[in-house]
Amino acid sequence: MSTAQHKIGSGFGATTTAAEAIAGTDLTGKLAVVTGGYSGIGLETTRALVGAGAHVVIPARRPEVVLDRAGVEVDRLDLGDLDSVRDFADRFLATGRSIDLLIANAGVMACPETRVGPGWEAQFATNHLGHFALVNRLWPAVAEGARVVSLSSRGHHYSPIRWDDVQFTRGYDKWTAYGQAKTANVLFAVRLDELGASRGVHAFALHPGGIMTPLQRHLSEAEKIERGWIDEAGNYLVQFKTPEQGAATTVWAATSPQLAGLGGLYLEDCDVAELSPVDAVGMTESGVRRYAVDRDEARRLWTLSAELTGVDAFA
Ligand SMILES: NC(=O)c1ccc[n+]([C@@H]2O[C@H](COP(=O)([O-])OP(=O)(O)OC[C@H]3O[C@@H](n4cnc5c(N)ncnc54)[C@H](OP(=O)(O)O)[C@@H]3O)[C@@H](O)[C@H]2O)c1
Repeated sequence: MSTAQHKIGSGFGATTTAAEAIAGTDLTGKLAVVTGGYSGIGLETTRALVGAGAHVVIPARRPEVVLDRAGVEVDRLDLGDLDSVRDFADRFLATGRSIDLLIANAGVMACPETRVGPGWEAQFATNHLGHFALVNRLWPAVAEGARVVSLSSRGHHYSPIRWDDVQFTRGYDKWTAYGQAKTANVLFAVRLDELGASRGVHAFALHPGGIMTPLQRHLSEAEKIERGWIDEAGNYLVQFKTPEQGAATTVWAATSPQLAGLGGLYLEDCDVAELSPVDAVGMTESGVRRYAVDRDEARRLWTLSAELTGVDAFA
C-alpha cells in the first residue's frame, strides 16, 4: 500500500494553467510522446511542452486532422488495435531516438458497449490495454530518468478492477467500465514505477479536473442535465476547468522538480492527492481510492495485461 499519498504543498492548485506549471522549465532537446495530443487536454499539453522547447510526437487515431506546427510530429496509432500499437512502436524504435516524457493521455469515456480486438470491452482496451502495450513496446527507447504520465480520472471512484468479469461479459454499465479503466490507469503507474526504478524512470497517474472537451461526446444533453452539469438552457452549473488548467497537472507530473525522487503516485490539482477517506464505490469529491494504489492489485493487473496483450518489457 502506498504511504506517500499526501499533499506536498506545491503552491499550485485547481486554477493553475499548464503554462504556469511549466514556467521556467527548459525542455530543449527533450522528446515527448503524447497520445491524443491533438484534442482537449492533450492539445494543451502539447502546446505547453512545445512552448518549453520539447519536440512532441503525437500518435493519433486521426493523423489527418492534426495541424502542422513547429516542434510537433504526428504518426498513426489506434490504441484499440494492438497491431496498430506494434506498428507505431516499431516505426518509432527504428528512428533510434529516446523518449524523455511519455504521456498516456488518450481516452474514451462512457461509450455505448463496444468490443475491440478479441471481444475486449473498449474502454478497458483503449484506455488501459492499448497504453500498456504501447509503453511496454516503447520501453527500449525510454530514457534513463524519464517520466511516464498516465491520465486517470476521479471517475476511478466508480469501480475497482472487476476481477470476476473484467470484460463485462455479464452485462455492461458505461460508468462502471470507465471507472475500471481509470483505476487500471492508476495501477499501471504504480507498477511501472516499481519496475522502472532501476533505470530511474518514474510514473505518475492523475486526475486532470473536469474539463468540457470532446471526451463528453457520448453523453446526451439530458444526461448532462441529470448529472447536474448544465441547466435546461445549457448553462454550466458546476465549475469546469479550462483546457489550459486541465493540462496543468499533466505537465507538472511530467516536468516538475518538486516530484524528483517520487513516483507511483496519483496527483490532482498540481499536487499529490490524499487517500480518499471512503473506500465505497461511487464518486466523492477528491482523493485516490486505496484499491487504485494497492501494490498487489497493481501486480495482478500487470500480469493480466501482459497475458492479454502478449507484451511485457520486464518479463
Ligand atoms: N475532460 C475531462 O473532464 C477529464 C476528466 C478526467 C479525466 N480525463 C482524461 O483525460 C484524458 C484526455 O481527455 P480529454 O478530455 O482531453 O478528451 P478528448 O479531447 O476527447 O481527447 C481524447 C483523445 O484520445 C484519443 N483517442 C480516443 N480513442 C483512441 C484510440 N482508440 N486510439 C488513439 N487515440 C484515441 C482521441 O482521438 P480522436 O480525437 O481521434 O477521437 C483524442 O485525441 C482522457 O484519458 C480522459 O479520460 C478527462
